[in-house]
Amino acid sequence: MGGGGREHALIQALARSPRRPEILCAPGNAGIARDARVVPVAVDDIEGIVRLATAERVDFVVVGPEAPLVAGVVDALTDASIRTFGPSAGAARLEGSKAFCKEVMGAAGVPTAVYKVVQDAQAGLDAIERYPVVIKADGLAAGKGVIIAADETHAREALHALLVERRFDTTDVVVEEYLEGEELSLLALCDGRRAVPLASAQDYKRIYDGDQGPNTGGMGSYSPVPAVDDERAREICAAVHQPVLEELARRGIPFQGMLYAGLMMTADGPRVLEFNVRFGDPETQALLPRLRSDLLSALEAATIPGGLAGVELEWSPEMAVSVVLASAGYPASSSSGDVIRGLDRVPASAQVTHAGTALDEAGEVVTAGGRVMNVTGLGPDAASAREAAYAAADMIEFDGKQLRRDIALRVVQPAGARP
Ligand code: GLY
Repeated sequence: MGGGGREHALIQALARSPRRPEILCAPGNAGIARDARVVPVAVDDIEGIVRLATAERVDFVVVGPEAPLVAGVVDALTDASIRTFGPSAGAARLEGSKAFCKEVMGAAGVPTAVYKVVQDAQAGLDAIERYPVVIKADGLAAGKGVIIAADETHAREALHALLVERRFDTTDVVVEEYLEGEELSLLALCDGRRAVPLASAQDYKRIYDGDQGPNTGGMGSYSPVPAVDDERAREICAAVHQPVLEELARRGIPFQGMLYAGLMMTADGPRVLEFNVRFGDPETQALLPRLRSDLLSALEAATIPGGLAGVELEWSPEMAVSVVLASAGYPASSSSGDVIRGLDRVPASAQVTHAGTALDEAGEVVTAGGRVMNVTGLGPDAASAREAAYAAADMIEFDGKQLRRDIALRVVQPAGARP
């Protein structure tokens, strides 16, 4: 289920399974249509999804985006006896409510920023001890509900927008300590009891090079993060994902699916910034080309309580760098209908995943959203993976194309060596 770059990367990885699955995607995009049979059912049409899966005798559903998870699509499919990868609505609250997520972390003893939940703007201001401070809308906000306020004026504006204007239909706001360090995305496959970490990844959230400009859904990613090898990933998973899994199981809402921890690697160790309840976008586009294990069998195993016992995921030692090509105006707006040229020139060694693309009446691939596509390059080190990704990214052209030029540059030029 889904129609973004993450879902296209999932489909490409599932298609590599030796079990040769027949894949349907609702609703898909122009690129997914080449690798799967696309069906025009929207991801928020839960009844339509259940009808489709039943009519097509689907054996297994993989849910991409968070909104249908929070809305209960897994519960609805499970009630219809359709095996589904993803958490129930109860467990998906970890992403659906930031206040719930913080409360679970507290109960599980997971390291996170100090916070307070407030319902009015003055209480929010009173809760702030120093600037910058992080102000978060409680519910889903498509990545736009987190504001880093540099000073009191900015904090007042943010609290007004969230609690007076109700910009995201939220009554609760989390006011949280700002943490410094490098961000890390560590995802773990969970079967309700056991968490198996994926390789480490890092995403780039701001629109411009050097982490400048507004936040986006993510402008690129790379994997692995050299400081977080498989051994370190297992340690972090044991301190972060596993206790949350145990806490949710204690509450009778076992978590099955992908548990994504957004972490800040602070001087005092990793701290959780947020949990998401699905694969990351664009981390998935850098992670899955490195996966050597069969993704289909691994996801299926996670749907069985305890099914991941003895399962380890195997990764290529190569570095993957994934660059997002975005349309003009993104992230404030997006441009549609611009013809995308050069896709046929991209070598097969680079992986192209489509996000906001569609076919026009003439059958040409055109832009249809903010993040248009990802290009992922692989190589023995960051420099060669970057070269492969950017060579392919430069072959693809459309009006107003935007991309960051510094994805994984920090790996090639460690902090001390950067200008
Ligand atoms: N890469 C950020 C996200 O998937 O939420």
